[in-house]
Amino acid sequence: MSIQCLSNIAVDTQVMAYLAPNMPGLQEFQDRSPRKSCLDLNSLAKLQNRLNNRALMKYKHLQLKQEFSEAISKLTPVMKARDAQLYRHSWRVQSLANALTSNLNLPEDEMLTFELAAFFHDIGKMSINDKILYKPSGLTRQEFEVIKGHPTHGAKMLSHVKMLKNVVPLVYHHHERWDGNGYPDGIRGEAIPFGARIIAIVDAFEAMTSQRNYQDRRTPLQALEELNKHAGTQFDAQLVEFFCKSLETTFRDSIDVR
Ligand SMILES: [Fe+2]
Repeated sequence: MSIQCLSNIAVDTQVMAYLAPNMPGLQEFQDRSPRKSCLDLNSLAKLQNRLNNRALMKYKHLQLKQEFSEAISKLTPVMKARDAQLYRHSWRVQSLANALTSNLNLPEDEMLTFELAAFFHDIGKMSINDKILYKPSGLTRQEFEVIKGHPTHGAKMLSHVKMLKNVVPLVYHHHERWDGNGYPDGIRGEAIPFGARIIAIVDAFEAMTSQRNYQDRRTPLQALEELNKHAGTQFDAQLVEFFCKSLETTFRDSIDVR
């Protein structure tokens, strides 16, 4: 085999720079002398494809991670200064979404989109008056209508950030219900974007297990029972089941309390 053949199977050098420290064996493969190689051309071509696919996926993932961190770092100080409770809720919902999605075998970019949407799902509440948002007793019908505007406000705010374009519909639809009785559009079942169905579940779980002005905190077990009670009406039943299972193994390690 010629050196030219081996150069054809080389993984892109820029990608290598990103990957080599975290991918044992890649550098060794890259450095292998043509005389020592006992792989036939076919195997090398397959290996090349595998490595390049993994390399590009990892490269893309790193770029997305960077975008994730930039988006968070630009928007979180504003959120934290405006509403510390919302900020904490957002982090916990994002952590719970991560616990759920990391067991679903989703592509990395989809996972990141879901996590971003989980983090920003209630950002529209920043435009609602605190007197209504944190009213300790029951809301009037008119006040509830104001609260119901937050998914629309949030989607509008995020629509100005180009990198979050896939996040916008998930934020917009996170209060839809499986039976069609949610808002803002009243869409039902699988018409509700998958990521929005995930957020609906983890958002409800986080809200129930946190102390709020208007309710006492429930235990995780009580919250899961409540989710199960509303599976198939308010929530996607399959996802509730999956969430319960994933919490059994990841609950303690994955919820990031800040
Ligand atoms: Fe919400």
